[in-house]
Amino acid sequence: MISDINTFIRPNLMNMPDYKPIYPLDVIADNLGIPQDQLIKLDANENPFGPLTEVLEITGLLQNAHIYPDPESRRVRALLAEYHQVSEQSTVLGAGADELIDLVMRLVIDPGDRLLNCPPTFGMYSFDASVNQAKVINVPRLSDFSLDIAGMEHAIQEHQPKLIFLANPNNPDGKLIPPEIIKALLAHPLLVVLDEAYINFSAAENDWIQKVSEYDNLIVLRTLSKWAGLAGLRIGYGIFPENFVPALMKAKQPYNVSVAAQEAACVSLLNIEQLNQNTTSIILERQRLFEKLSKISWLMPYPSSANFILCKVTGKNAQDVNQRLRKKGILIRHFNKPGLEDHIRISVGKPEHTDQLVDVLEQME
Ligand SMILES: Cc1ncc(COP(=O)(O)O)c(C=O)c1O
Repeated sequence: MISDINTFIRPNLMNMPDYKPIYPLDVIADNLGIPQDQLIKLDANENPFGPLTEVLEITGLLQNAHIYPDPESRRVRALLAEYHQVSEQSTVLGAGADELIDLVMRLVIDPGDRLLNCPPTFGMYSFDASVNQAKVINVPRLSDFSLDIAGMEHAIQEHQPKLIFLANPNNPDGKLIPPEIIKALLAHPLLVVLDEAYINFSAAENDWIQKVSEYDNLIVLRTLSKWAGLAGLRIGYGIFPENFVPALMKAKQPYNVSVAAQEAACVSLLNIEQLNQNTTSIILERQRLFEKLSKISWLMPYPSSANFILCKVTGKNAQDVNQRLRKKGILIRHFNKPGLEDHIRISVGKPEHTDQLVDVLEQME
């Protein structure tokens, strides 16, 4: 007789700290006593324009919701292959880039294998590494959030990590990685996964997707969560070396991307001009938000190539700033972890969101 069902669970999972996802809006609205439609949500780098109207029309009218989705997401892959000018065989869809991060690790990591991580960065890299029993070798970023190249080279020599995940631009600071650094990393026997969730908001000149076929150790991940406003439908994709894909397809859950998500992705990819108009509006609003934040004496915003702006809070308590905004129904992200003490991150919303946010911040002067 087993006395505790938890004895079945792998000990490393029992001992792992939880990943703390954000609360649903109705729960937050109830807690704050503010109606859900009055909340200004600038805490999770979502797209304030949401999906295209065409997407809302088709997802409400889905004829085939009772049928399992295409396990190979053929139509979406074909559209992505055309858009990026790559082969369909190099393209794999996931339930968000998040699923692909975990899938790559499941495919590559044996317990104890090493993964190079450069915090502060997207938390799922170290989280999924722990789930998959990788040993995380942390090489923290420098104080301006750029990569510590000497430290990384040293860690590669000493620990021989099997893979590295790098967000380009990085979350939470929004900085792009200089191409020569990526090239130098690719010269090592190391699988380099570039996570380009926010690349559409940047002016990056290098298109790393075009380079995947030139290397056998480069993977590029993208998502429709930010660019196409589909975060709630969960759909992201990766461009992989073609000979890596059969194993990926074997390891992934067969029906990982829902019918609704595949349909929404197809409609979005058929209306890329509209997506790009929304992107341009977000980039313009980022500039306006940056200028307004720069004028607040106790905030130091960092220039960003993504749809959010990280700020250092000086001379005030960052958690207090977060709480005061929250009470007014304005949700931002407060960090208090190594390298990010006294920092807040604000997603770029619509102009009216910027105005309300800045009003409240100015009242705190
Ligand atoms: C750097 C980075 N990569 C990936 C993701 C997750 O993307 P998805 O919604 O496609 O899972 C996020 C989400 O915030 C992110 O910041």
